[in-house]
Amino acid sequence: MLYRILGLVVTVVAVSGADVCRLPSRLWCSSRKTADDCQVTQQCSAQDWSHETAAPPVNLVLYYESLCPFCKQFITDQLFPTFSKLSTDVLNITVLPFGNAEEKKEGDKWEFTCQHGRGECEGNLMATCALKTTSFNSTAYLPFINCMETHATEHAIWPALLLNCAARNNVSHTDISSCMKSDDGNELEHQMGVATKAEGVDYVPWIVVNGQHTNETQEAAQTDLLKLVCQTYTGIKPAPCTSVLSTDLKVSFKRSRKSKLAKKRHY
Ligand SMILES: *[C@@H]1O[C@H](CO)[C@@H](O)[C@H](O)[C@H]1NC(C)=O
Ligand SMILES: *[C@@H]1O[C@H](CO)[C@@H](O)[C@H](O)[C@H]1NC(C)=O
Ligand SMILES: *[C@@H]1O[C@H](CO)[C@@H](O)[C@H](O)[C@H]1NC(C)=O
Ligand SMILES: *[C@@H]1O[C@H](CO)[C@@H](O)[C@H](O)[C@H]1NC(C)=O
Repeated sequence: MLYRILGLVVTVVAVSGADVCRLPSRLWCSSRKTADDCQVTQQCSAQDWSHETAAPPVNLVLYYESLCPFCKQFITDQLFPTFSKLSTDVLNITVLPFGNAEEKKEGDKWEFTCQHGRGECEGNLMATCALKTTSFNSTAYLPFINCMETHATEHAIWPALLLNCAARNNVSHTDISSCMKSDDGNELEHQMGVATKAEGVDYVPWIVVNGQHTNETQEAAQTDLLKLVCQTYTGIKPAPCTSVLSTDLKVSFKRSRKSKLAKKRHY
């Protein structure tokens, strides 16, 4: 009798397992859900599924132009230092170099007019070509863009900056320079313009966090981007977040202020 009951239990388990477990056995441990469905969760315990429960990165999109002073400041003081502290699993950065430029088609090429003059258009195109040359991999292009913005001025000699910043940051100056002369580079800069207009950018830097642009996130990003990203990230907070998320005031009061506080609080 006991054996018959056990036999029945085993059969029921096998049947219900087989119902949802339609994969070949070598794939049973491939995800937590598959293992559950195939009723081999315990047998698969050596498998690491932690990435499945990882939170999505904070997505940050920056619309900017190469010579605007607040763009330079944001990139060099906030964006690059924050990028340097966090992994791309926590912060996913995209930049679009176009800003407040205008464009019109002349023959089969786009002509750009930029707020801070022709040099700015050249800087925008150089940055756009750096994105293309690195296959839009922010880890590869951001150090170069940070270098450009660190040294960019209205009198910037871009070809010299290109050589210098490319050599220091492992990007190919020859690829960037040929992109800048090509129809592909011209078309890609136009695409930056199309995306910038579609976003409805009316000042730069224009910062979009997880698809939203608000005055509050703009202000928070320009004041302390690391803190904003740490607050927004829904996963386990990485180590660099510990200091910015601590609620202790890092100040020391003046004696006089301390005694005023004491009075107000009736200690
Ligand atoms: C990173 O951002 C880009 C552009 O916004 C987006 O296409 C991509 O899906 C994002 N990656 C992740 C992992 O969210
Ligand atoms: C992005 O670029 C970095 C630095 O060059 C490189 O280590 C990484 O493998 C690249 N990532 C991808 C997805 O190609
Ligand atoms: C330099 O760039 C190449 C791609 O062009 C990449 O494979 C390599 O990982 C980079 N090296 C470093 C140190 O980032
Ligand atoms: C955002 O800030 C701008 C400029 O300070 C202001 O004109 C606008 O009304 C603000 N928008 C909202 C929704 O508060």
